[in-house]
Formats: sequence, structure tokens, C-alpha cells
Amino acid sequence: MAREAVKETIPLMTPYKMGQLELSHRVVLAPLTRCRSYGNVPQPHAAVYYSQRATKGGLLISEATDVSPTAQGYPETPGIWTQEQVEAWKPIVDAVHRKGGVFVCQIWHVGRVSNNGFQPDGQAPISSTDKQISPDPESGMVYSKPRRLRTGEIPGIVDDFRRAARNAIEAGFDGVEVHGAHGYLLEQFMKDGTNDRDDEYGGSLENRCRFAVEVIDAVVREVGAHRVGVRLSPFSDFVECADSVPMTLADYMVRQLNMHEGLLYCHMVEPRIANVIGRRYIPHRLLPFRKAFNGTFIAAGGYDRDEGNKVVADGYTDLVAYGRLFISNPDLPRRFELGASLNNYDRSTFITQDPIVGYTDYPFLEDDHKHDPTINA
Ligand SMILES: Cc1cc2nc3c(=O)[nH]c(=O)nc-3n(C[C@H](O)[C@H](O)[C@H](O)COP(=O)(O)O)c2cc1C
Repeated sequence: MAREAVKETIPLMTPYKMGQLELSHRVVLAPLTRCRSYGNVPQPHAAVYYSQRATKGGLLISEATDVSPTAQGYPETPGIWTQEQVEAWKPIVDAVHRKGGVFVCQIWHVGRVSNNGFQPDGQAPISSTDKQISPDPESGMVYSKPRRLRTGEIPGIVDDFRRAARNAIEAGFDGVEVHGAHGYLLEQFMKDGTNDRDDEYGGSLENRCRFAVEVIDAVVREVGAHRVGVRLSPFSDFVECADSVPMTLADYMVRQLNMHEGLLYCHMVEPRIANVIGRRYIPHRLLPFRKAFNGTFIAAGGYDRDEGNKVVADGYTDLVAYGRLFISNPDLPRRFELGASLNNYDRSTFITQDPIVGYTDYPFLEDDHKHDPTINA
């Protein structure tokens, strides 16, 4: 009797329609700052890096990209406010498109997560507040005392995001992701731990979210909701930016996102991974927002193959973004498909300026075979 081949369905490897875009699987490249864009200009080695991680119908989110000269807080991050930067992104986006990938540009402003050395004319970084972040002995980062933005300056910053989005589309990106996470400028306004303003951008929840909402509105008006994703991390306390009622904050923001019909996606970061009886444990606290949001939902933070398959199968999320595992495994979707082993990542090369080491030199599965002396035995 002929036996039917039973093919295991791998939830992460099933197709998904995101708006007008046909994705062939659910494994997303998370936005990852790599600090290799000399002089804020994306470099040819980024074309190698991103195209290594591109697959037909796979979604890639770019590293956080500065919207203006005051947006920078880390060395050699790419920008998208000058024509030179737009031109430099084009071949990188082309390289991803040639492999059939979908490529979204994450646009950011770090706000007070910066120091005078990164700022034009050595000025103070700008923020919602003039409260300074304490130095971080672990990373060696020192943050300067920020300058509180005057109310009348805020429309100019909103416009920087609008122009960055326009430029990203001109560079060929399929969309933009507004970086509303991890303690950067949008969150400095949103969270009650960092917003101590008394104008219409401070105080009530609605006022604190006003700046983020205006940025998202402006970007949507400029390039269309179908090209705009938003990243949020309500539970994060990174760089001393925390909210006392994160569930309420996130609920409010998701309702604001729902006002834009056909928004590309909502991307949320899980709370920090806990250790329960010696095992990694993802808290899975995003469910209320996944339920409340009317479109595609992306979850990120601590996922591996098993957890990713589980949350897609359960309907907890539509897509899963992978950060560190995608740094060290350029062919991560293929490895997940095959259930292959994974390369370990090397933290020490996450954020360096080397154009190759820790960037484009992680091996593909085929490389393992090339070096495997038993393969032709
Ligand atoms: C080296 C590095 C750079 C990162 N850069 C960004 C970034 O530019 N924008 C962002 O939203 N998140 C950034 N993140 C957070 C990741 O997108 C992701 O949420 C995080 O790594 C958790 O996912 P993982 O457990 O799959 O790595 C970065 C993380 C790492 C390790």
C-alpha cells in the first residue's frame, strides 16, 4: 500500500497576506542598529548584509535610520534626510528586491539618548524633558543633559519624520516603520516617567501621546497607511524611560493606530524575558493589543523556532520578528524550515564599525557543508 508522505506544517513557514503584500513566510528581520554607515551614509556592505538575509516574500525591517542631524545617538548610524543618503540606500534596497524581499525602513529620532558629540555644533540633545539619563557603566554610554523642546518646535520634528518617510519611498523602500519604542524620542513623550511637560504635549495620556500620534498621522498622509508600520514597547524601561500604566498606554496607542484604515502593521516588543525554574519564559503579554489591533500584528523579543511556531499556530501574532538570531544566521528562515542547527551570535561585534566581521561573515548552511569533511565521504 502506498504510504502518503506526511509533510509537517511549520507555522512560521506558511504564507501570509500583509495588506497588498504577499509574504511567503512569517520570519521577519527585526530592526537592528549595526553602526556601519560611515558619516551617516549607508555603505555598499549593507547591500551584502541585507541581501544575505532577504528571501522571496520575506519581510526585512532596516536598522533605525536618523530622520535629521539631531536624531543621532550612536556612532555611524545611517540617515535618510539628505539626497546623498537617499541615493546610497537605493542599491541596498535594490539588492533586497532582486531577491524578492519586502523592505521597510525604520525611521527614528533618539531624543535624549545621545550626547553633545553626536549633535550639530555640539548642542544639547533634544527631548520632551530636560532630565538627563544616568551613565550606563555596562555599555560605557554617557548621555548629555537634554534640552526640553519648546512647544513651537514640535511641528518641525514631526515634519522631519514626514520628510524621512517620503525619502524612504523615493529610495525604493516598500514602507516605513515609525520607531515608537525603546526609550527614544516618541517614547520620551509617551511615557509618564519621562514626560514632565505642562503644555498640550504633557500631562494627560492623550497629551503625552499627541506627538507620536502627530508623527504617525503626518507619515500616513505623506506615503499612505498601507506603507506605514509602527513599533511600540509599552513595557520597556530601557534608558530610564518607563510608564506607570503600560497596558493603558498601549491600549490608547493601538486605538489611535486603528484610526488609520489599512495601516501596514503594528509591531510590539514583549516585556523582558523571565527565567522560570531555570527556563527562558516569554511573558506573552501582547495578546490584548493583538486582539484590539485591526491589522497585521508582529511580535518580537526572545523568540526561537519553537516559540515562534507556537505563537503563530495559536494566533497570538501574525508574524514574528527575530533580532539576534538573524544577526548570526543570515539564512534563518531556511534553517527554521529544515529544523537545522543555528550559529551562535557574538555580542561583541553587534555594534562595531567593521564592514565584514560579525556582519556579513556568519556562515550559511551550505558553508557548513563546504567545510564538513564527511559530506563527500
Ligand atoms: C544589536 C542590536 C541592535 C538593535 N537595534 C534596534 C533598532 O535599531 N531598532 C529597534 O527597534 N530595535 C533594535 N533592537 C531590538 C531588536 O529589534 C529586538 O527587538 C531585540 O533584539 C529582541 O529580539 P531578539 O530576542 O529576537 O533578539 C536591537 C537589538 C540588538 C541586539
